[in-house]
Amino acid sequence: MEIDYRAEIERLKRELPVTVVAHYYQRDEVFEAADITGDSLELARKCKADENPWVVFCGVGFMGQSVKVIAPEKRVLMPKIACCAMARMIDGSYFDDTVEYIERHGVSREEILPITYINSDATVKAKVGKMGGLVCTSSNAVKIIEKGLESGKKILFVPDRCLGQNVANAMGLRSCVVGEGECDPKEADVICFNGFCSVHQLFTPDDVEFYRKRYPGIKIAVHPECDPSVVALADFVGSTSQLIRYVNSLDPEQKVAVGTEYNLVHRMRPKNTYVLSSTKPECPTMNETTLEDLYLTLKSIEEGKPINEIFVDEETVHYARLALDRMLEIR
Ligand code: 13P
Ligand code: SF4
Repeated sequence: MEIDYRAEIERLKRELPVTVVAHYYQRDEVFEAADITGDSLELARKCKADENPWVVFCGVGFMGQSVKVIAPEKRVLMPKIACCAMARMIDGSYFDDTVEYIERHGVSREEILPITYINSDATVKAKVGKMGGLVCTSSNAVKIIEKGLESGKKILFVPDRCLGQNVANAMGLRSCVVGEGECDPKEADVICFNGFCSVHQLFTPDDVEFYRKRYPGIKIAVHPECDPSVVALADFVGSTSQLIRYVNSLDPEQKVAVGTEYNLVHRMRPKNTYVLSSTKPECPTMNETTLEDLYLTLKSIEEGKPINEIFVDEETVHYARLALDRMLEIR
């Protein structure tokens, strides 16, 4: 007999002390089944405040890990333990190598304050927490870097070179990317690791030019993981939630092309909204989670044999939590 996944998911959610969480980039059917939705920052805050002991997180690995770090007493399961491509670009040893590179170029460890984008493994967050640093998301990066600079130190920003450079440009700060061209850490306020998002790299200045020519007067709105050359041409830059608010604030007749993940743009107002690309910018790992995966994960709780549980060792939780809590304390 065929299972009605939607009905079964609703039943399991009613009967179990569980909260289903989904990031905006999830497939529509998974997104619609969730109790809590939002961008990375909203999800971190809402999960911390939620009372259910079980969390089923539909997203990518670092998101489920972050819930476990800020609320270690919770049991966190992920229907698919899919890894964000950008988060995979740095681990603890690459982080250490980057700090050593900066030291070799005349800036001591004591002069560096690390900030990691939330799109990173808990081990990287722990390294950052241990050095007195903090986490940021795409919606609060300016505020967090501003706060970091109050220490009088240089910022080491990992792993997203684009977010780091875009925030530095917006704040009139000097930045450089380790391993790219002439990066002299002594001359930079923000020293960026050379990571990037493979999805947001798809948007180019040519795409902006194409849409502006085709629809004169069109607005261009992009996520700050886009290349600085694209951000420089945009009318609006913001995190996923900020992009949604921006598009909703426009006159219904105002055309807008949005440079971020396909599922989110597709869900925005249907008329006069375009995906800023000729290819389909779908995040492959975000899209791995299906309704069947969600059902099987909830069912595993009911059967007392939970699958895909997230575990983070105590020491990593301790230091990663310092970095995450420092962010969550800043309003
Ligand atoms: P947000 O912080 O906007 O949710 O973005 C997370 C992400 O992975 C974007 O690619
Ligand atoms: Fe990671 Fe990019 Fe996917 Fe966001 S869109 S989860 S940064 S790979």
